[in-house]
Amino acid sequence: MTERRDSAVIAQQLQHRSVRRYLDAPVSDAQLERIVHAAQRASTSSNLQVVSVVAVRDRERKRRISRAIGGRSYVEEAPVFLVWIADLARNAAVMRAGGAEPETLGLIENTLIGAVDVGIAAQNALLAAESLGLGGVFVGSVRNNPEAVSAELGLPRHAFPVVGMALGVPDPEEGTGVKPRLPLAGVLHRERYDDRAWRPAAEEYEADYERYFATQGTPGRSWARTVIGRLATAAGLHGRHTMRASLRAQGYDSE
Ligand SMILES: Cc1cc2nc3c(=O)[nH]c(=O)nc-3n(C[C@H](O)[C@H](O)[C@H](O)COP(=O)(O)O)c2cc1C
Repeated sequence: MTERRDSAVIAQQLQHRSVRRYLDAPVSDAQLERIVHAAQRASTSSNLQVVSVVAVRDRERKRRISRAIGGRSYVEEAPVFLVWIADLARNAAVMRAGGAEPETLGLIENTLIGAVDVGIAAQNALLAAESLGLGGVFVGSVRNNPEAVSAELGLPRHAFPVVGMALGVPDPEEGTGVKPRLPLAGVLHRERYDDRAWRPAAEEYEADYERYFATQGTPGRSWARTVIGRLATAAGLHGRHTMRASLRAQGYDSE
């Protein structure tokens, strides 16, 4: 639902769709820098600024990353592939330079800070990119093989690749629409959590979801089945059920 009073930012947000196919057109360095600058302006826990981003343009490097995470055309074909890093390495160095021994980096609270700050910054980046006429998609698949991605990017200890982002000029032939979301009534609770609110919302959503995917040429899709496929068993996690070990390997002990 678009309201007449929507701001330009909200209008942009409501048009969001993941873009996985790109024209053979560049994303300039000037655009990249504006996008990362906008990302950096996001709020950050205690102003710790635990976010770094590696911009990968090299075709071979993109191909190696894609292969390591199971093969993703959008990683290989996007003119720029960003890897968003929860980066406590910089803060560790700052502490040591100031004469303090970093003792808490492995605590799960800091893992959460890293993941939350990365998510906030990365979404700011995607919105900025979309406002410039670009499109992109988050790539959680970097966590299918964080060890290989970390090695490929030369990440130090305490730097963890949380999520990737393929960016480019959208190919209009891709033809994806704006994917519906759960009705607001199943998501927005007032004063106290209503644990039954999801049920009518999910029912209504099943119909919206089915209708949307029918327009995309894949009728018969179900959101509930998607949830089951992704979350019910470890198989749906594409190898990510060992994330604690992957975090540990980068110094996030998650205790
Ligand atoms: C953290 C995160 C990781 C994601 N990882 C992937 C991914 O690895 N591959 C992919 O094709 N889409 C990925 N997506 C995109 C989602 O599938 C997409 O946002 C969702 O289906 C809703 O579609 P929409 O963005 O077009 O509205 C990811 C999204 C998020 C937020």
